[in-house]
Amino acid sequence: MTRYSRVIGTGGYLPEEIRSNEQISQLVDTSDSWIFERTGIKNRRIAGPHETASSMAEIAARQAIEAAGCDAEEIDLIIVATGTPDRVYPSTGCLLQQRLGIKNCVAFDVQAACSGSIFALSIADQYIKTGAASKVLVVGSELCSRIVDWTDRGTCILFGDGAGALLLAASDEAGILSTHIHSDGQYEELLYCPNPQVATEANKDEAGFISMRGNEVFKVAVNTLGRIVDETLEANNMQQSGIDWLVPHQANTRIIAATAKKLKMSMDNVILTLENQGNTSSASVLLALNEGVRDGRIQRGQVVLLEAFGAGFTWGSALIKY
Ligand code: ACO
Repeated sequence: MTRYSRVIGTGGYLPEEIRSNEQISQLVDTSDSWIFERTGIKNRRIAGPHETASSMAEIAARQAIEAAGCDAEEIDLIIVATGTPDRVYPSTGCLLQQRLGIKNCVAFDVQAACSGSIFALSIADQYIKTGAASKVLVVGSELCSRIVDWTDRGTCILFGDGAGALLLAASDEAGILSTHIHSDGQYEELLYCPNPQVATEANKDEAGFISMRGNEVFKVAVNTLGRIVDETLEANNMQQSGIDWLVPHQANTRIIAATAKKLKMSMDNVILTLENQGNTSSASVLLALNEGVRDGRIQRGQVVLLEAFGAGFTWGSALIKY
């Protein structure tokens, strides 16, 4: 009998503070209309001074565990995707394990920028399929507002904070049908975030902020996501019409629309959270999935395509029978 990973619960958390395009236009030379037309974003959430990746992860994770109706102690693996960990170490996964009071499980972090949740999901799926784990908690949690330069209009308009979570369990019913992950390290200069604490003499003056050549990233993202759609459909011997929902990484509506077009899919079948959340990096796909599940759009038995693209470059997809 085939052993699948099935989504048994989802959760999400967004910090209270809302920062609008109007507020950002007080900080940098931009406007609500420019931001909305070019990106689809109107508002984003900003974490409070006491919040961390692990504190937000805990709230999202508890929601997912509650939705699954299981006990936290049943979890045998925690994978947290984050580019903004509380500490260099312990991992945010271990800090989350402590917060959830789980004594006996494995926990670690995955760093694949905005593709982090897809990478984490892919790893989780392999652990479950091989029998190495039975219940895996996957979380994406990001404090993008703390690594954004609020004087750089090319990046500060885009990002927001939040956490998304899902719980996977082994099942003989179809769940994750396939995952596909890729990396290409040659694009470092187009999108990176320095770590000033470990700077060399050559880059000691760099601040720890996101640096992005947005227009160039945009073009690669559109092409790459088009290719990953083909790869996913081919691997599953499926036509575009077999997919009920697209749950994309929320970076830019124009990138998402290009992927929907490739799938010959109406935007009505795309879960969009971008307008009020911005780009929450590795949290975005999980937050969008949680929203689609909780508001009843995504139903059991439907086929859902998750995809993401981010720094590295990294990119990936997961095809799920929900
Ligand atoms: N307000 C007003 N004008 C602006 C702003 C702004 N906020 N930002 C840039 N401009 C100006 C530029 O200076 C430029 O002016 P010029 O023509 O006089 O030189 C003009 O607008 C066009 O700039 P572009 O950079 O070409 O604008 P573009 O349409 O590409 O939009 C954006 C920029 C929104 C950043 C877009 O390129 C984008 O979304 N890129 C992809 C981001 C992404 O997917 N990142 C990957 C995930 S993130 C991660 O992994 C951490």
